[in-house]
Amino acid sequence: METRNKNPVFVSLASFIFLLYSFPQFCCAANDTIKQGESIWDGGSLVSGNNSFELGFFSPGNSTLRYVGIWYKFDSEAVVWVANRNKPISGRNGVLRIEDGKLVVRDGNNSLVWSSNVSGSSNGTAAKLLNTGNFVLSRDDSIGDTSRALWQSFDEPTDTFLPGMRVPVSSKIGEFQPYISWKSPNDPSPGNYSLGVDPNGGQQIVMWDLNKGRRRWRSGQWNQQFFTGVPFMRNNATTLHGFDISQPDENGTMYITYTASTPGNFRFQISWEGREKQSRWDASKKKWDYLQSEPDPANECELYNFCGNYSTCDRLDRRRCICLEGFRPKSQAQWNARNWSGGCVRKIDLQCPITNGTAVGKAKPDIFKKSKCTKLPDLATLLPSEGDIDACSKRCSENCLCIAYAFIPGIRCMIWTGNLVDMQYFHQGGSLDFFYRLHHSESDRGRKISDLEIVIISLVVTGFLVASLWLLWRFRTKLNVSSKPCCKDNDVAVFDVSKGKSKEFSTDLSGPADILIDGNQVHAPELQNFDFSCIVTATNNFCEGNRLGQGGFGSVYKGELPGGEQIAVKRLAGHSGQGLEEFKTEIILIAKLQHRNLVRLLGCSIQGEEKLLIYEYMPNKSLDNLLFDEAKKAELDWKTRLSIIEGIARGLLYLHRDSRHRIIHRDLKASNILLDAEMNPKISDFGMARMFGGNQNEANTVRVVGTYGYMSPEYAMEGLFSVKSDVYSFGVLLLEIVSGQRNNSFRSFDHTSLLAYAWRLWSEDKVTDLVDPCIRDSCSPNEVLKCIQIGMLCVQDSPAHRPKMDAVMVFLESETATLPTPTKPTYTSLKAAVEEEYVLDGQEIVSSNDVTITTIVGR
Ligand SMILES: *[C@@H]1O[C@H](CO)[C@@H](O)[C@H](O)[C@H]1NC(C)=O
Ligand SMILES: *[C@@H]1O[C@H](CO)[C@@H](O)[C@H](O)[C@H]1NC(C)=O
Ligand SMILES: *[C@@H]1O[C@H](CO)[C@@H](O)[C@H](O)[C@H]1NC(C)=O
Ligand SMILES: *[C@@H]1O[C@H](CO)[C@@H](O)[C@H](O)[C@H]1NC(C)=O
Ligand SMILES: *[C@@H]1O[C@H](CO)[C@@H](O)[C@H](O)[C@H]1NC(C)=O
Ligand SMILES: *[C@@H]1O[C@H](CO)[C@@H](O)[C@H](O)[C@H]1NC(C)=O
Ligand SMILES: *[C@@H]1O[C@H](CO)[C@@H](O)[C@H](O)[C@H]1NC(C)=O
Ligand SMILES: *[C@@H]1O[C@H](CO)[C@@H](O)[C@H](O)[C@H]1NC(C)=O
Ligand SMILES: *[C@@H]1O[C@H](CO)[C@@H](O)[C@H](O)[C@H]1NC(C)=O
Ligand SMILES: *[C@@H]1O[C@H](CO)[C@@H](O)[C@H](O)[C@H]1NC(C)=O
Ligand SMILES: *[C@@H]1O[C@H](CO)[C@@H](O)[C@H](O)[C@H]1NC(C)=O
Repeated sequence: METRNKNPVFVSLASFIFLLYSFPQFCCAANDTIKQGESIWDGGSLVSGNNSFELGFFSPGNSTLRYVGIWYKFDSEAVVWVANRNKPISGRNGVLRIEDGKLVVRDGNNSLVWSSNVSGSSNGTAAKLLNTGNFVLSRDDSIGDTSRALWQSFDEPTDTFLPGMRVPVSSKIGEFQPYISWKSPNDPSPGNYSLGVDPNGGQQIVMWDLNKGRRRWRSGQWNQQFFTGVPFMRNNATTLHGFDISQPDENGTMYITYTASTPGNFRFQISWEGREKQSRWDASKKKWDYLQSEPDPANECELYNFCGNYSTCDRLDRRRCICLEGFRPKSQAQWNARNWSGGCVRKIDLQCPITNGTAVGKAKPDIFKKSKCTKLPDLATLLPSEGDIDACSKRCSENCLCIAYAFIPGIRCMIWTGNLVDMQYFHQGGSLDFFYRLHHSESDRGRKISDLEIVIISLVVTGFLVASLWLLWRFRTKLNVSSKPCCKDNDVAVFDVSKGKSKEFSTDLSGPADILIDGNQVHAPELQNFDFSCIVTATNNFCEGNRLGQGGFGSVYKGELPGGEQIAVKRLAGHSGQGLEEFKTEIILIAKLQHRNLVRLLGCSIQGEEKLLIYEYMPNKSLDNLLFDEAKKAELDWKTRLSIIEGIARGLLYLHRDSRHRIIHRDLKASNILLDAEMNPKISDFGMARMFGGNQNEANTVRVVGTYGYMSPEYAMEGLFSVKSDVYSFGVLLLEIVSGQRNNSFRSFDHTSLLAYAWRLWSEDKVTDLVDPCIRDSCSPNEVLKCIQIGMLCVQDSPAHRPKMDAVMVFLESETATLPTPTKPTYTSLKAAVEEEYVLDGQEIVSSNDVTITTIVGR
C-alpha cells in the first residue's frame, strides 16, 4: 500500500477509474435506473445493463405524437411496451419521473397522462430497466428485484409477450386478455384484437376479435408438453418451443412461461392485423425472422370455427369443410356455395332427450363414434378425476347431456355438453381422438366396414412387424460393412464396399439389396469425395434455417460451397441403422446415371457415423411443395404440368430401358420429383432403387418399402416388383399432377380415393371435374383427357395391362394415337380405407414409428 500511494500516476489513474465506475452518468456505462425526484425528458432514455433494451420517448410509424415505451436497443422500431398508449403527448415536452413513489408521465402542460398504479404512496422508490425488458419499480433497498416489485411493466403488457413474462392462468380469474393489439403501425392505442388465456376445460391460448365479440383463434388445450392445436408445436414438441405451464400455486393459479431453447432475442407479438407472430432477431442480417404466425394467413382452417358447428376443416381436402359422420349441412344450398358458417346438424336426433338429464325408456342405447379430428373441439369440461378412458366413457354415456368425450394423456378426461365447435383435421403430428354421441341406427354401416378393416389391419400390422424384424436382423449383419471407408480422400473416389471379389455387379436377386454388399467393388470415377468439415461450413453446421426437408432416412440441407456453388446435402440420421443400405444403393446407382431428368449426385462425404450425399441444388424444391400447396399450386400452369409429366416419363424411360442397367426406382412420388430453376423435373432418391440383370423382368422382396398411395397392388401385397410397379406409381403421380390432389390424403369420410374418384368421373364421362380448378381455364381439354386416360391405364390392377414407359412416351407425344380403354382399378378403394384409417398421410411405411403401429394394435 505504502509504495503504491507514492506513485502519483497510479493514484490519478485509480481515482479516474473509481470515478468511471461510481458515476456512470459521467461516462458511457448504461443508465438503467431512475430514482425519486429524477426526470427523463423527451430525448433522454434509460438503457438496460447489457444494452438489450431502451426506454424513452418515441413516435411510432409516421405519427408525430409522442409515447413513452420500451424497445430493443438494436432495433428502435421494435417497441415491446407502451406506457401512455391511450393518451399520447402532442409536443416534445413530455417527462417521465417518480413522484410520491409512483412512476408518472406528464405532458408539456404538466398534466398527467399516465401513472403506474401503486396502492398507497411512499417516498424512496426507484425504477430499473432490466436486461429482460422489464421495467421494475421497487423500494430503494431492493432496486430491480422483481419479487419485491411495487409495480412492473411485465404485469401490464401491451401487445408483446417476452421471455420472462408470466401469464396467470386461473379459473378464479377466468378468461384473461392482457395483450391487446395496436390499432395500426402508427397508433399504439388498443386495437381490434386481444390475446390471452382461457383456463376452462384445459388451458389454452386464445385470440379474441374484440370488434365482433368472438374468438378468432385458439391454440388447443395444453397437454403438459405443448398446445395440441398448434401444428408447429405438434411436429416437434421438444425443440421448437419453450412454453411451459407451472403447477398451480396455493391459490390455484398457474403461470404460462416461455424459455427459449436456443439463445437469441425472441418476441411474441399480437400484430394490429390480428396475428400472433413469433420472431427471432437475426443479428447477422439485422432483421427479424418470423418463425410462425397464428392464425396462419395461408390456412383458413385456423380461423376459429371456420367450418361451423359439428364440422371439421381440412386444408388439404378440396371440399374444405366436412360434416362429422351422422351430420349433414344445416343448409345444403349455403354449403354448396362454400358458406360454411351455418355448420352441420344431426341427421337423426339422439334418443337421450338432451334437455333432460337421463334417458327415458330407451330401447337401444346411443352409440359413440370416434373422430380422428385432431384439434379437439372447444368449450370442453375437464373431469380430471376420471382415471382412465373407460371411466371417462362411462361417465359420458351415463349422462345424456354429454355429447362427446376424450381421454388425452396430459389432459385426462374431457367431456363436451354444448355444441362441438372449431375442429380441424391435421395431417401430421399424431392424433387426438374424441368420441361423440350418435343415434344407434347410425352404427350399422360403420360396424361392417370396421370389421373388414380390422382384418386388413391385422394383416398389415403382421406384415410390418415381420418386415421390421427382418430389417433389424438384416441391419445387424451389415454393421461391419458400414465401418469401412466409403469414399477415399482423393478427388477421384473409389467406392470400396469391402475388399474381396470384384465382379462388377451382383445380379443375384434372390434377396433384396444384394447388388451392393457381399464384396463388390464399384468404381465411381464421377463421384467426388467432399471434406466433411467443408460441408459443415457450407451448410452452416446443418443449421435449422438451411434445412430443406426431411426424408425417411435423414434431413436435407441447403449449402453453399466456397466458390458459391449451391448444393443440397442429405445427411443420414446418425445412429439409425435404417438408411445405410439406401445410402450405398444411391451412391452405386446414381453415380452411373446421367440424364437431364434425374437429379445429379455430386459426391459424398463420410466421417465416423456421419454419412452425407451431396447433390446439385434444386431451387424450386420438390413437386409436392408446389402442387399440394393451395397458395402456390397456381404457379404450375397446365403447360408446366404437362412438361413435368413428360420429363418424369423420360427420366423413367431412361431408368427402365436406356441406361446400361435396368433400374426400378420403387419410390416414385411427388416429393421425390425435384424442380430446377426452369421447372424441369428431376427424379431423385434412389435409395430404394434396384438394378436388374439384362433379361430379368421381375423380382420379389420380403422387404416392402415405398409409400402408401403409390405402391402397386402386387408390390404392396406380394412384394413383387417390376418396371410395371414404377408405371403404377407414375400413373398415380400423373393423376395427382392433373388434379392437384394427393392420392394418399384424398381422404374423405365416404372412403373414396383419388383413383376411385378419377375412375368414377372417367366412367361417367365427367373427367374435367378432376382437373385442378386453378388450371381448368388454361388447359387444353384434349391433352388433359389424354393424360387422365394414360394415368388410368397405368394404375390398372394387373401389371400385364399397364403400358410400359416407352408406350406411355408414345401416347404422350402422339396427337393421334388411339389409346386402349382402361379397366377399373378395384384395388384402390380397399387400400384407401386402410391407409386413411391407419397411416398418417405422407408418412413412409419404412419410417412409420412404433407409435403408429401401437395405435393400430390398440384398436
Ligand atoms: C441518468 O439518469 C438520470 C435520472 O434520470 C439523469 O439525471 C441523468 O442525466 C442520466 N444520465 C445520462 C448519462 O443519461
Ligand atoms: C403515413 O401516413 C399516411 C397517411 O395517414 C399513410 O397513408 C401511410 O401509409 C403512412 N406511412 C407509414 C409508413 O405508415
Ligand atoms: C396545453 O394547454 C393548452 C391550453 O389548454 C393547449 O392549447 C395546448 O395544446 C396544451 N399543450 C400541450 C402540449 O398539451
Ligand atoms: C388502480 O388499481 C385499482 C385497484 O387495483 C383499480 O381499482 C383502479 O381502477 C386502478 N387505476 C388505474 C388508473 O388503473
Ligand atoms: C415525499 O417527499 C416529498 C418531498 O420531500 C413530500 O412533499 C411528500 O409529501 C412525500 N410524500 C410522502 C408520501 O411521504
Ligand atoms: C442481455 O441479458 C438478457 C437477459 O439476461 C439476455 O437475454 C440478452 O441476450 C442479453 N443481451 C445482450 C445484448 O447481451
Ligand atoms: C424433436 O427434435 C429432437 C432433437 O432434434 C429429437 O430428438 C426428437 O426426436 C424430435 N421429435 C420429434 C417428434 O420429431
Ligand atoms: C394467494 O392469495 C392471497 C390472498 O389474495 C395472497 O395474499 C397470496 O399472496 C397469494 N399467494 C400467492 C402464491 O400468490
Ligand atoms: C377494426 O375495426 C374497425 C371497426 O369495425 C374497422 O374499421 C377497422 O378496419 C378494424 N381494424 C383492423 C386492423 O382490422
Ligand atoms: C326428466 O327427468 C325427470 C327426473 O330427472 C323425470 O321425472 C321426468 O319424467 C323426465 N322428463 C321426461 C320428459 O322424460
Ligand atoms: C354453434 O355453437 C355455438 C356454441 O354452442 C352456439 O353459440 C351457436 O349458436 C351455434 N351456431 C349455430 C349456427 O348453430
